[in-house]
Amino acid sequence: MTGTALKTLSNSRRAARTALCRAARGNGAMDQNYTHQPVLLEEAAALLVTDRSGTYVDATLGLAGHTIKLLSVLDEKAKVLGVDWDPEMAALAAGKLEPYGARAKVVQGNFANIDEILRRENLPAVTGILFDLGISSLHFDKPSRGFSLKHEGPLDMRINPANPLTAFSIINHWPYEQIEHLIRIVGERNSNRIARAVVDKRAAGPLETTAELRDLIERVIPFRGEKIHPATKTFLALRVAVNYEFDNLTRGIQKAMPFLASGGRMGIITFHSLEDRIVKETFKIMADIGEWKMVTRKPVVPSETEVLLNKRARSAKLRVIEKA
Ligand SMILES: C[S@@+](CC[C@H](N)C(=O)[O-])C[C@H]1O[C@@H](n2cnc3c(N)ncnc32)[C@H](O)[C@@H]1O
Repeated sequence: MTGTALKTLSNSRRAARTALCRAARGNGAMDQNYTHQPVLLEEAAALLVTDRSGTYVDATLGLAGHTIKLLSVLDEKAKVLGVDWDPEMAALAAGKLEPYGARAKVVQGNFANIDEILRRENLPAVTGILFDLGISSLHFDKPSRGFSLKHEGPLDMRINPANPLTAFSIINHWPYEQIEHLIRIVGERNSNRIARAVVDKRAAGPLETTAELRDLIERVIPFRGEKIHPATKTFLALRVAVNYEFDNLTRGIQKAMPFLASGGRMGIITFHSLEDRIVKETFKIMADIGEWKMVTRKPVVPSETEVLLNKRARSAKLRVIEKA
């Protein structure tokens, strides 16, 4: 095949992929039955609830699994405020919570600004706040959101689609050094080979889809049936960067602290060691200052049965701290 024919073929493949992504994007989730199996549900409710008629905040509402659990153990006077950064998720959760009337309220927003949200909602002292970090199964299962290795979708990965930064912009516009660093900090040993492959590939035209990136990584680091796919850590690194996840977490904890009533608790469920390290270290500093005491000396982890029933739970860790 001549160089021109090859270029035409690759352009038409790219056009087909872009059309697929556009089609997937237009295929709204509102009419589909997406589910998310909440992790450490019993444990989180048991450790967070100290007053059955209190006011609680679910800072990562998702599809409202933890909120509904909390409402089931709380009495009629109690209230739960659910916050989610993703407008689609907030809308789906609001529908699920309709039967609970005024006991549950949903707000779309970033928990990094939880202070502003709580001030706006006139909630100066809450009884408990829960963060169940990361993304929901809906995000993984809906190809148009571009989070999953398994489905072909645009390189997007934004929790809130109003944000300017996408995985596409990182992959296609960031310099080699920044991409390599980003992938390395999540523990990818082949960060230099992956970043080099990305930079070489994009010289011939932008990488548009999750499948293009996954396949490229598979060519550099062949998949030989290891526990995790060779692109898993790169996808995680992109998601964390696109959504400023570490920064949001640190800010979220700090901003929530003054809004907990005395005896109120903050519970955080993490899914990877970098997140857990931030929570562990921040909670330690809080306890050392003296105004807080650790409720969980060691993180609470899911039972074997939960992990068997829900593979996603296998890396979950719950830590809880209480305000004196
Ligand atoms: C693991 S899911 C929560 C699932 C939820 N506990 C349930 O039972 O359905 C995490 C949720 O947090 C949301 N999220 C992630 N970062 C956020 C942030 N900075 N502010 C608010 N919500 C956020 C995601 O959109 C996602 O819906």
